[in-house]
Amino acid sequence: MTARGLEPPLALLAELTHRCPLQCPYCSNPLALERPGRELDTAAWQRVLDEAAALGVLQVHFSGGEPTARRDLDVLIAHAAKRGLYSNLITSGVLIDRARAEAMAVACLDHVQISIQGYAPEAADRVAGYRGAQEKKRAAAAHVRAAGLPLTINAVMHRHNLGELEAVITLAVELGAGRLEVAHVQYYGWGLENRAALMPTRAQLERATEIVAGARERLKGVLTIDYVVPDYYARRPKACMGGWGRRFLNISPSGHVLPCHAAETIPDMHFESVADRPLAEIWRDSAAFQRFRGTEWMPEPCRSCDRREIDWGGCRCQALALAGDAAATDPACALSPHHAALAAAAERESAAPAPDFVYRRMTVPAV
Ligand code: SF4
Ligand code: FES
Repeated sequence: MTARGLEPPLALLAELTHRCPLQCPYCSNPLALERPGRELDTAAWQRVLDEAAALGVLQVHFSGGEPTARRDLDVLIAHAAKRGLYSNLITSGVLIDRARAEAMAVACLDHVQISIQGYAPEAADRVAGYRGAQEKKRAAAAHVRAAGLPLTINAVMHRHNLGELEAVITLAVELGAGRLEVAHVQYYGWGLENRAALMPTRAQLERATEIVAGARERLKGVLTIDYVVPDYYARRPKACMGGWGRRFLNISPSGHVLPCHAAETIPDMHFESVADRPLAEIWRDSAAFQRFRGTEWMPEPCRSCDRREIDWGGCRCQALALAGDAAATDPACALSPHHAALAAAAERESAAPAPDFVYRRMTVPAV
């Protein structure tokens, strides 16, 4: 894709902080979490929002870590609204009480997405690594709805909670959500670290797919259900981020501008900071965004494949993690020479007893 034909990003994921009271073993944050002292301050984030709106970004997703751990969140929400940006809060919900929900509504937040770890409180709290999390999430959802904010529930599914999927769907309706994301774990970062502990069997996946299909039919007009399947049982990869540097950008807590949340796992790549260069220039010109943008960089079999502008060769971070080369075809693709090993790992790990979780913590043990 040439710079001239480049469209502005649709959405910006603002990772305000890596602080979080939860410790989910599939967290999308990098293994090397950023320390609170390195976070951008309020004025810097406001400038980022100004630059994003000027660039043509339409949506900002306030995320983390746990974004409500930032005391200035309401100021940033109000600033996004002032710049005409649609705002979505991606939260665990455990820090949201009635006053907080009302303050965010007053600041003109557009939408809230609360994650849940399952249905039964004890099991869900074990995954979260936080006692009482499920109860707080239910309360937060009620506060969000009472404040008049639209709600999506995000349920991350894996071998331990797929048996609860029907109950999770019913819970989303009870909580007043208009949308439910049933998202199988994606195996990068912490998820990859915990792959054997989380990988479902093919039979579990097939049952879940049937349940989602039935619920979609039954709940038409009540609940919209998005469904994200695990790459490991797929024959073609997903278009990760809608293609590298095409539709989305992430900004890390310290201000690094990334094409995806896991991009910093790719070695020998320099990600520029909003502190050093305008966002529009980074989006358009930075070497990191150019590296895998479009189709020029692709090796075979992607280069001559008729899906190359559909899935954009899949996920660069997964290619690095599983094939050892970020420029390789994503091993989730059955045409990749690494696909058989990936499929075999899924079958093997899901059939073996689950190991203990490695919880997401600020201090990462040496590997
Ligand atoms: Fe996608 Fe590449 Fe596989 Fe074709 S060969 S389906 S472009 S990942
Ligand atoms: Fe980085 Fe898919 S997570 S490209």
